[in-house]
Amino acid sequence: MPEVTKEQVLDALRAVKDPDLGRDIVACDFVKEVKICGPTVGVTIELTTPACPVKEQLKSEAAAAIKRLPGIETADVTMTAQTVGRRIDAQDILKGVKNCIAVGSGKGGVGKSTATVNLALALAQSGAKVGILDADIYGPSVPGMLGINDRPMADEQGKAIPPAAFGIKAMSVGMLVGEDAPTIWRGPIASRLLQQFLGAVNWGELDYLLLDLPPGTGDIQLTLTQSAPLNGAVIVTTPQQVAMRIAKKGLKMFQQVNVPILGLLENMAGEVFGTGTTATVAKQMGVPFLGSIPLDPKMVESGDMGVPLVALDKESPASKAFLAAARSLAAQLSVTNLREQAVDNRPKQVLLAEQNPPKIVWEDGTVMIYDARKLRLACPCASCRDEMTSQQIITEQQVPANIKVAEARPVGRYGLNLVFSDQHGSGIFTFNYLRELGQPL
Ligand SMILES: Nc1ncnc2c1ncn2[C@@H]1O[C@H](COP(=O)(O)OP(=O)(O)OP(=O)(O)O)[C@@H](O)[C@H]1O
Ligand SMILES: [Mg+2]
Repeated sequence: MPEVTKEQVLDALRAVKDPDLGRDIVACDFVKEVKICGPTVGVTIELTTPACPVKEQLKSEAAAAIKRLPGIETADVTMTAQTVGRRIDAQDILKGVKNCIAVGSGKGGVGKSTATVNLALALAQSGAKVGILDADIYGPSVPGMLGINDRPMADEQGKAIPPAAFGIKAMSVGMLVGEDAPTIWRGPIASRLLQQFLGAVNWGELDYLLLDLPPGTGDIQLTLTQSAPLNGAVIVTTPQQVAMRIAKKGLKMFQQVNVPILGLLENMAGEVFGTGTTATVAKQMGVPFLGSIPLDPKMVESGDMGVPLVALDKESPASKAFLAAARSLAAQLSVTNLREQAVDNRPKQVLLAEQNPPKIVWEDGTVMIYDARKLRLACPCASCRDEMTSQQIITEQQVPANIKVAEARPVGRYGLNLVFSDQHGSGIFTFNYLRELGQPL
């Protein structure tokens, strides 16, 4: 009997879809190796993160798809991962770090440091290389939570080698600053200090670096957020209404500086504060919900012992919730990173609302002018365009002749949300889409 071909195997694997990326594993370029040997087919599937939440599902679906091929009895599926990261340019201060994630909260005491440490451990347990930068200038808590007492050592270049515990490297900015921390850590000085600090640490190669930010949404937080090359941010909150209002402020802060929101994480859920509010708010705000961590009396004990709960008791409900949240976080990062990589050009100056005709100056020097009416008709939102067929629903007659772009708001770092003078403002125009719609000058 003739053997199956590599093409047949790939075709069969097109039936396996990555639910987070919304495409099949062949289109995602995950299938790295196909070996056919009589009735046995071996494939290697390389995912974008070792913490992929659907790793086992993809593995078994791939095996099943291969075994449906004629004459094939055994499918040998190997799962590997190569973490995707942010764009790293020549000036980058964290060249070896693929992903840099800020963990923030609107207010103190919601369990931000606890979440940072346990998420880091959960990511490391999946096989990723992980570091934590404790950027909480009001006092370091991460080293204590990891039971680290050692001071960093210096490498040959004089850079600090972060001490490690539980497979995590950890450094603390707080150790550097004394009593007057809050006054130093403002504006340009803070920015320079953090940049210097980041540049003075030898992290080696990391898949994920988590930044435990000081609680709050003031200019200290804003400065730190702008000074580190962030891929995205996680916002930790408790389920109380007040806490949620404050979390929304945190959300706005990151959006203001174009840092994508990777998701909201609810902590201390349970009888006292209730549960579920965070998921609803995440939905309202259009950001991912990463999960809910229950109140767990063992958490305080683990903090005091210097052993994170995920290491102390992997089976406890809070640990399980952290492990699941870390997988969601890794998936969100992959989605965000791939979306950013697909953007091959960005605007340097957006003058859609300010000039007539509307204009965008792109980073590569191209200047494009736009027809506001054409933009309005091209709105890609669900009420203007059929989601399945992407056919235009809005008609020419519905758009006033003198329509203007009222506002262009950045969304993540991949597109613009355009608000028009007819009050319609639900469309997100990706940079790539805007390149298609413009007329080069
Ligand atoms: N899910 C939980 N169940 C029980 N206790 C928790 C939980 N999460 C955090 N805690 C406890 O709450 C306290 C505050 O947590 P943590 O220090 O992580 O908060 P934080 O937001 O980083 O605070 P700060 O604003 O001081 O930096 C700690 O004693 C911690 O052990
Ligand atoms: Mg803290």
